[in-house]
Amino acid sequence: MSLKFLYLDEPDMIKAGVLDMKKCVRSIDDMFCTMGSGDYLMGSPSENHHGMMLWFPESPRAGRMPVAGPDRRFMAMPAYLGGRFYVCGNKWYGSNVKNTEKGLPRSILTVMLNDVDTGAPLALMSANLLSSMRTGAVPGVATKYLQASGASEIGIIGAGVISRPCLLGIAETIAAKGRVKVYDLNPQKAEAFCREMGERTGLELVPAASLEEAVRGSDVVSVAVSGIAPVNIQDEWLKPGAIVLATGTANFSDEAYRKYRVVFDNWKMHKDWLDELRDDPERLLSVNAGHPSAKFLLKVAAGGVDPANMVSLGDIIADPSMGRQSDKDIFLFLTAGMGTEDVAWGYDVYQEALRLGLGKELALWEKPYWA
Ligand SMILES: NC(=O)c1ccc[n+]([C@@H]2O[C@H](COP(=O)([O-])OP(=O)(O)OC[C@H]3O[C@@H](n4cnc5c(N)ncnc54)[C@H](O)[C@@H]3O)[C@@H](O)[C@H]2O)c1
Repeated sequence: MSLKFLYLDEPDMIKAGVLDMKKCVRSIDDMFCTMGSGDYLMGSPSENHHGMMLWFPESPRAGRMPVAGPDRRFMAMPAYLGGRFYVCGNKWYGSNVKNTEKGLPRSILTVMLNDVDTGAPLALMSANLLSSMRTGAVPGVATKYLQASGASEIGIIGAGVISRPCLLGIAETIAAKGRVKVYDLNPQKAEAFCREMGERTGLELVPAASLEEAVRGSDVVSVAVSGIAPVNIQDEWLKPGAIVLATGTANFSDEAYRKYRVVFDNWKMHKDWLDELRDDPERLLSVNAGHPSAKFLLKVAAGGVDPANMVSLGDIIADPSMGRQSDKDIFLFLTAGMGTEDVAWGYDVYQEALRLGLGKELALWEKPYWA
C-alpha cells in the first residue's frame, strides 16, 4: 500500500495560519485541558520527559565530535496528545548561537506528526514559527487562568524573539488593555521592540529604564531573556495580585518561592529533571541553563521547598479551586516548553493546511520493499 505524507514549508505554514495567535492560544488552552485530564504522554518511563538531548563535551574527545558552545544542542521532543487532537508527533531541532553569523536562526526546527495507530507520518512541517508561536501562547493561557481581575499593565523583560509571541499571547487573554513596559539590557532593542509590537498590537508600549521599573506596577510580568546576565526580581517590586510568567530564567528570593504561589506548565516534567540529575547539581544547571526552574529545582533538592505541593496549570484548569484565591495572590509561573505544545499547534495548522489544499505530498513508498 502506498504511503504519502504532507510536507509544509514555512510559506505554507504561514498560509495555513501558524501566525494566528488567537487560534494558537485556543489550541494551547485545549492542550492544557487535555493534559489536565491525563490524556497525554511524553517520553521516558516517567511519561513526562521534556525531550532527549544531545549535548557536546566541554573539550575535544574524538574524531570530529563538536564541543560545547552557547545554546548548542540537538533535541527530540516526542509526545502523544489525546482529546480532540489524538495524534503523535516529535519536534526535532538543532541549536547553535554561532548560526547567526551564517545568517541562520539560532535554532532550526521541524515537527513530524504521526498517526497514533499505524505510526505513519502525516506531515513534516517547518517549525520555527510553530515553536515560537506555541511558546508565546503558553503565557497567554497562563494569564487567562491566573491573572487578578482587571489586570491590565504588562512588563516585558527581554526584547528578543520569544518575547514577541509572548506579548501577542498575553494580549489575547489579559482582562484589560493597559500600558506595556519593555526592559532589555540593550536599550535599542527595547525601543525597536516597542515600535514594532506597538504597531502590531495597537497597545501603548514604552521602554523601561530598569528591570525594577518594568516590574513595579505590572499585573503581568513576562521574562524571556537569553545569555548569562541574571534577571533578579525583588519581592518588594511585585504588585499584589501580579503574575510573573517565566519563559526564560528569572531569579526570585528564597522567600518568594515559599510565600507566593508557584505554578508549572507541568511539574512532573520538572521533577523528572530533578530525579535524573539530583546528585549532579552542576549538570542540572547546565542542562537546564535556559529554563526557569533550574535554580528552583536545586532548592527542592536541598530540602528547602516541599515538592509535594507543586501545582501544574492543567491541575488548575481541571480544578479551579486550586487556582487564585484572592486578587492579592502573587503567582510565579515557570514554563520550559513541551512536545505536547508542538503537537497541539502543529495538528491544528496541519488541519487548516489540509482544508486549504496546501503543501507538497511526498511518498515514503508506493509499496514497502520489505513488508
Ligand atoms: N519555555 C519555552 O518553551 C521556550 C521556548 C523557546 C525559548 N525559550 C527561552 O526564551 C529565552 C529567550 O529566547 P530568545 O530566542 O527570545 O532570545 P533572544 O536572544 O532573541 O532575546 C533575548 C533578549 O534578552 C535580552 N537580555 C539578556 N539578558 C537580559 C537581562 N538580564 N535583562 C534584560 N534583558 C536581557 C537580550 O539583550 C536579548 O534582547 C531563552 O532563555 C530561551 O531558552 C523558552
